[in-house]
Amino acid sequence: MPRPTVVVMPGDGIGRIVVPEALEVLAASGFEADFVEAEIGWSCWARDGDPLPPRTIEMLDRHRLGFLGAVTSKPPGAAEAELPAALQGRGLAYRSPLLTLRQRFGLEICLRPCAGVPGNPANFVRRGPDGAIDEPPIDIAVFRQNTEGLYAGVEWTDPPAEVRRALASHPSFAPFREIAGRDLAVAARIVTRGACFRIADAALRYASERGIGTVTLAEKPNVLRETSGLFEDAAREAASRWPGIALRSVNIDALLLDLVRRPEEHRIIVASNLFGDLLSDAVAGLTGGAGFACSANLGADAAIFEPAHGSAPRHAERSPSIVNPIAAILTGALLAERAGARAAASRVRRAVGAVVAAGKVRTYDMLGLPSREDVLARGASPTRRMTEAILKELG
Ligand code: IPM
Ligand code: MN
Repeated sequence: MPRPTVVVMPGDGIGRIVVPEALEVLAASGFEADFVEAEIGWSCWARDGDPLPPRTIEMLDRHRLGFLGAVTSKPPGAAEAELPAALQGRGLAYRSPLLTLRQRFGLEICLRPCAGVPGNPANFVRRGPDGAIDEPPIDIAVFRQNTEGLYAGVEWTDPPAEVRRALASHPSFAPFREIAGRDLAVAARIVTRGACFRIADAALRYASERGIGTVTLAEKPNVLRETSGLFEDAAREAASRWPGIALRSVNIDALLLDLVRRPEEHRIIVASNLFGDLLSDAVAGLTGGAGFACSANLGADAAIFEPAHGSAPRHAERSPSIVNPIAAILTGALLAERAGARAAASRVRRAVGAVVAAGKVRTYDMLGLPSREDVLARGASPTRRMTEAILKELG
């Protein structure tokens, strides 16, 4: 593969802390690439009223490979209030640039591999009938449809008359017909056969490459008869082309119940956008928490990688930083893998595994501590020490 150029977007909050750590680890792993930095997020909004500058889009258009730290999103009132006075009252609306990027670059597959790292005290444990503590090995990949469903962005408060008319043509809208003005908000859950087919196909391919015999589809076709129904139908069509792999359809609520009791029985889960968002956080919670949650937004000809933990602004100002850089570091490994540097990716994962297993360096989240002032005094390591330990493993 040609030497890649990575568009690095640290973004907001702790994104600016963990991205440089991850890049340092990537460099030490032997991953060779050029890195160019681009702006994104709340700081751009608060300055120019645009969280996704055209220059950033141009750079992504050119290089098709991005590494994003995190972006802060706030509700509409707060977003307006933080605009410069000259931009207020002009009807500018904040929308997470991450959502725009996913749609703009067709990043329709969100892959969130969640594997417990042995030795992490934050891993899921369970008590057996004899009282013994059991820590099952968990390795679950969530495939989340990333561009449509309830995230399509088609929603209104006080829908326009023509939308109300269309809604009124549906018999199930009868109880809502008389609800006036801003007392009614509506979102469209948009589902297309092609996108459902492709996300299911991606999950099935991933299963096939790893010799895993079952893919679980987590929808809710008993209630969302049309939208989940179409998803299921398309996924079955995809599965018919992977004869060695069984597609198991489970209602999302029942799956969540089972996941928090017997997570080790699940390997690959495919879901629509919002369900996948919820599921991937739940599964991250079983495998070490937000500090280990890596993710990839994949399209046919572009990919953007981001740790799934968000910008956590309350942690961003703290010195020394206490946040766990591992989610960003493992996200870097995903990026390297996609760019064809498999050996570098596995070196990163091996180094993280060795540091966690050794148990000498643990960030506050791994110790299950609330993020108070005293975490370092209570034995937690700061961000930098974790990165340094991983760098040392890489030689
Ligand atoms: C994620 C995040 C985003 C999402 C937010 C920040 C828009 O929670 O990547 O999971 O909901 O997709
Ligand atoms: Mn999320």
